[in-house]
Amino acid sequence: MASQHPAAPRQHAPHAHHHDGPRPDDTHLAELLDLDAEVLHEQLDGLTAWAAELTDGTPPRRILDLGSGTGTGTFALLKRFESAEAEAVDASPQLLQHLADRARALGLADRVHPVRADLDTTWPAAVGTVDLVWASASLHHLADPDRTLREAFAALRPGGLLLAIEMDSVPFPRFLPHELGLGRPGLEERCHAALTHRHGGDLPDLGSDWGPRLAGAGFTVEAERELAVDLRAPLPAAAGRYAQAALQRMRGGLDGSLSAEDLTTLDLLISDDGPESVRHRTDLVVRTRRLAWAARRPSS
Ligand SMILES: C[S@@+](CC[C@H](N)C(=O)[O-])C[C@H]1O[C@@H](n2cnc3c(N)ncnc32)[C@H](O)[C@@H]1O
Repeated sequence: MASQHPAAPRQHAPHAHHHDGPRPDDTHLAELLDLDAEVLHEQLDGLTAWAAELTDGTPPRRILDLGSGTGTGTFALLKRFESAEAEAVDASPQLLQHLADRARALGLADRVHPVRADLDTTWPAAVGTVDLVWASASLHHLADPDRTLREAFAALRPGGLLLAIEMDSVPFPRFLPHELGLGRPGLEERCHAALTHRHGGDLPDLGSDWGPRLAGAGFTVEAERELAVDLRAPLPAAAGRYAQAALQRMRGGLDGSLSAEDLTTLDLLISDDGPESVRHRTDLVVRTRRLAWAARRPSS
């Protein structure tokens, strides 16, 4: 594979003007994705170990990370498969830049190839044939994920593997106890209910059963795994920041969907300072459920 300096993502999205220019939202998303990787690193390790089992005997040399974000999957896979290189495909120039900077900092620049592409408009043909496709928390963002799955199938060598990792109808973990001591019991449940309602409209594929859809794209679905995360005190040091970043992102979609009292309480919880801030609370948890599918392109 031709080596590509990660500071200059290749571009395959001529029509992706909606992704041009700096987006403050992506700066925040980058922080959230990195915190997610830090706090949930055991689950990530488990998934790459699973990938190693499933590719036993023929470790992948060419990996494609679809909707790579800041490179959580890319870097975890490159650590697991030391002879591999990865194509990291994402529509966001900011997230790809973040990934490229990190690749350099980790000394992995020559094994990481950031490719800017809007998968809703163009399959990045320069990616070529790969041995392993990783799609984590990205399929539900796509306008036509079934088409992208068919394209990923075509990009895989016969016998190659795709791992899809997705989540329930709410893409955020739970962090808060039911009783907050702030007079708004059940606040997070109401946030999630409001988001589920909203996502039913703007992210209709969130929470989908991807097994039949993978089969529809030609894959043989070999296994499905549920990853249940239930972290309690003592939590990793980054958990408070992770909770803050996730609740802040959630807050952005909740105006008009929650009562003024709930929104005021949520604002207290996501503030940087104050005893109510999730940065300082000692009663947080991190509970989430992710689902993973392993699907293979048949050898013949
Ligand atoms: C929730 S993030 C997951 C990132 C990463 N896979 C991870 O597990 O941390 C979803 C990613 O999909 C990317 N994405 C969404 N729509 C896309 C599209 N149409 N084409 C390419 N990437 C897209 C976003 O930019 C974002 O980086």
